[in-house]
Amino acid sequence: MKICCIGAGYVGGPTMAMIAKQCPQISVHVVDLNQSRIDAWNSDELPVYEPGLDEVVREARGRNLTFSTNVDQAIAEADMIFIAVNTPTKHFGIGAGRAANLEFIEKCARQIAKVSKGHKIVVEKSTLPVRTAEAVKRILSSSSNGATFDVLSNPEFLAEGTAIADLLEPDRVLIGGESETAVKALADVYGQWVARDKILTTNLWSSELSKLTANAFLAQRVSSINAISALCEATEADIDEVSKAIGTDSRIGPKFLKASVGFGGSCFQKDILNLVYLCEHFGLREVADYWEQVVIMNDYQKRRFAERICRTMFNTVSDKKIAIWGFAFKKDTNDTRESAAIYVCRDLLRERARLVIYDPKVSKETIVSELLTALGDLSGTVSETDRELVHSNVTVVNNAYDAANQAHAIAVLTEWDEFRELDYDRIYDTMQKPAFVYDGRNILDRQKLTKIGFEIFAIGKSN
Ligand code: NAD
Ligand code: UDX
Repeated sequence: MKICCIGAGYVGGPTMAMIAKQCPQISVHVVDLNQSRIDAWNSDELPVYEPGLDEVVREARGRNLTFSTNVDQAIAEADMIFIAVNTPTKHFGIGAGRAANLEFIEKCARQIAKVSKGHKIVVEKSTLPVRTAEAVKRILSSSSNGATFDVLSNPEFLAEGTAIADLLEPDRVLIGGESETAVKALADVYGQWVARDKILTTNLWSSELSKLTANAFLAQRVSSINAISALCEATEADIDEVSKAIGTDSRIGPKFLKASVGFGGSCFQKDILNLVYLCEHFGLREVADYWEQVVIMNDYQKRRFAERICRTMFNTVSDKKIAIWGFAFKKDTNDTRESAAIYVCRDLLRERARLVIYDPKVSKETIVSELLTALGDLSGTVSETDRELVHSNVTVVNNAYDAANQAHAIAVLTEWDEFRELDYDRIYDTMQKPAFVYDGRNILDRQKLTKIGFEIFAIGKSN
């Protein structure tokens, strides 16, 4: 059997590497238009940082896993084609700021229709609005080579930072489809390492909608606990104690109740906005408003954090040095898409703070590019003043100590483990006084830091 995957990103790369590792008899070809991404997949510096990914790729690459830009050839040779391209929020025209941009999906479907001969199974791996498979089927049916297709929906539930563990032992694999034979063919691939009772099959539309719904529910939990964190700060209740108290109720459960500076990542916001747009499209105003509130609450949490920094530092951060620890949207990834850090840094820059940023896995180019985009307008235009602001007020360093040296404050924006184990006496000595710490992830030992002399502010904790 031959599999091709279009899109060598955070989903296509790790997912296909796992299939290739677990199914040595299947030949897996991952293709992308982006030459430098493909070059990176073929090198020792993979484009995606994920614990355990290097080993999986090393085992299968060159054996039954290949990466290339030969899209047409890979499609032509494959029995099963996964589409794992990006589906970002549309930023122009109808539905701008909400709807998913399906341009890349449609281009893939057209390419498959053009190149294919015989029969192929096409698998939607990207996260898509419910009923996208209808459009995909129609485009494929226009194939002039007499090719025939079955379309399946097989959304991906991996989380970044734990992708390998999630792929190895998924809670479930979801396959939506009409053709029993096609569903079985895909179930047989996963069946090589996933227990059969964890492979759920549904109709196409339930599968497409389940992905958006799962992300909406997960994000809603984070926004719910973050909403309560604001109330904790005003009332001397402690958010970690509240999380524990409610999470022990087996109906609520303990996971995804960690208050934070706000959720980030390429999925939650995009997928909820997509859900909101769909509800609006179907005339379900109240349903749309309900889900939109999850994103509104998240924006509030990010803004609130930056405002608390300004307020508690005597209402001005202008020309003050603030160490930013962590820029990725969560630990154990180099991904910065929609990271809360971007928006906190943007707000602090607008207050003319001087930022010294450290993240163990994110490059200076990425940080600067994210900040320029955040400061720019919707069309991507950045004013000369904002460019100058980033140029003069942002420094990127390669360790947490250098970031904190001579700083007025430290803001912890990503929960990297290394931040728990630093020498805080040493850090305190090098900082300006009062030495403020803003823990946006509640990972630091408040008692210990207070004893050293820090003034520490944490999410959902009153001072
Ligand atoms: P990504 O941007 O990292 O990767 C997508 C890749 O597709 C890019 O490298 C791009 O160059 C390539 N591409 C686009 N159009 C192409 C074309 N016509 N031909 C060949 N290559 C093309 O995106 P991602 O994070 O991997 O996400 C992919 C999809 O999976 C999205 O729909 C996303 O919502 C979904 N998803 C993502 C995650 C995650 O954790 N990142 C988890 C579950 C689902
Ligand atoms: C998410 C879904 O979990 C995954 O199933 C889906 O396939 C893709 O989207 P991801 O965005 O990679 O995965 O990471 P996730 O662990 O869900 O975290 C998302 C954001 O929420 C991060 O910024 C994280 O720090 C934040 N978060 C998560 C919290 O603030 N508190 C929590 O309790 C959990």
